[in-house]
Amino acid sequence: MPQDRTGDARPFPSSKLSVLRKHPIFCDLDPDALDQLCRYAKHASLKRGATIFSRGDAGTCLFAVISGTVKISISSADGRNAIFNLIGPGEIFGEMSVLDSQARSADAIANTNCEVFIIDRREFLPFVRSQPELAMKFIELLCTRLRWTSDQVEQIILQNLPGRLASALLRLTDKHKLAPGGRTIAVTQQEISEMVGMTRESINKQLRVWAARNWVRLEHGAIVVLNEVPLQALAEAGAATEDD
Ligand code: CMP
Repeated sequence: MPQDRTGDARPFPSSKLSVLRKHPIFCDLDPDALDQLCRYAKHASLKRGATIFSRGDAGTCLFAVISGTVKISISSADGRNAIFNLIGPGEIFGEMSVLDSQARSADAIANTNCEVFIIDRREFLPFVRSQPELAMKFIELLCTRLRWTSDQVEQIILQNLPGRLASALLRLTDKHKLAPGGRTIAVTQQEISEMVGMTRESINKQLRVWAARNWVRLEHGAIVVLNEVPLQALAEAGAATEDD
């Protein structure tokens, strides 16, 4: 079975401790535990487009994103993709197979150049057992992922295109509010179409209608949400007509 393909760890300019101390998942650890985690965390730089791991691989380690974006997706035998999530700075991925010892549930691909910390499962599992607060954070993270997935299922089954697209933009905006760039979502229309399960052409048509109403601004490789209120109404209504 292929293993994680992250290449060699390279020297990392900022102090590992200062990065981990600010990381939302690890920031509440006590100083001794943070020191211990620093010894476990290996830094790696990943080039845009690099496959970090593939669905079915063994889950040997956990990843914490420091900068850049990682795409979590699956692909079908006929080459179609479904994007589950875009993981950004301050987020974690690869925790599922580390915690449940099953194979990787999806592919992870560097969507931009990325800096990550990699923590080996053999060190992480005893560490998380010794840190109940950290274990709670992982439970919260898994609950968040389950809610996100439930929302996606609900949208695919119950909502039409405007509702699905509005919900996806609002979820992404919500996630990116904390990141530099505010409401600018660094996502292509192709990626949005792979998130909501509609063609790129219909996504583009809908976004252009909303851009003409100043609800969104379309930029190269990015979408800026200018007015959340009508999008929120569409996301909640769900069954509006296609030209809303
Ligand atoms: P793992 O199964 O180890 O490898 C793939 C990773 O993608 C998984 O851990 C999670 O970190 C992440 N992942 C899988 N499914 C989803 C999902 N539906 N939403 C968000 N993240 C996911």
